[in-house]
Amino acid sequence: MRPHYASEKDSQDVQDLLQACGLPADGVAEQLGNFLVVRDNAGLLGCAGVENYGQVAVLRSVAVAERARSAGLGELLVAAMLAEARTRGVQSVVLQTTTAAGYFARLGFERVERACMPPELLRTALSREACPASATLMQAAL
Ligand SMILES: CC(C)(COP(=O)(O)OP(=O)(O)OC[C@H]1O[C@@H](n2cnc3c(N)ncnc32)[C@H](O)[C@@H]1OP(=O)(O)O)[C@@H](O)C(=O)NCCC(=O)NCCS
Repeated sequence: MRPHYASEKDSQDVQDLLQACGLPADGVAEQLGNFLVVRDNAGLLGCAGVENYGQVAVLRSVAVAERARSAGLGELLVAAMLAEARTRGVQSVVLQTTTAAGYFARLGFERVERACMPPELLRTALSREACPASATLMQAAL
């Protein structure tokens, strides 16, 4: 199973998985080309998305179906996203999470203050989550 870029046929499955995981699915259809997915014969196993803002990228929508958890898929998807961002010259990857700060800390992300973020990001990608004020903001330097 290897992550590959999502196409139109993945759109509904990605949105369904995000909804099942309690993550926002807004903008997914438009951003689909920036999503990696992993599937097996029974359907979608996991996804991760990225939004690009020059040297900064926002990692979003990291989700793994319950039937596939704790097998390293989440880590695989994040690593693939970081590697891909690195090849594009991205220097810093940012994410926000309300439930998985410990998980992303294990993958090399560190907590960062909201005030350290570029204002453009705060207005756009980082304002979209359901509760931005309470979300933990994290960053990984590439
Ligand atoms: C977080 C998530 C993507 C992890 O996917 P996964 O493929 O199961 O993760 P991996 O196999 O790479 O890693 C599993 C390990 O992470 C730990 N882990 C899983 N979710 C965690 C969380 N929310 N916080 C801390 N650790 C977590 C597991 O306990 C497991 O630990 P172990 O190896 O010591 O047993 C998955 O649990 C998920 O989709 N959760 C719901 C959506 C979500 O919260 N996404 C992140 C916000 S963007």
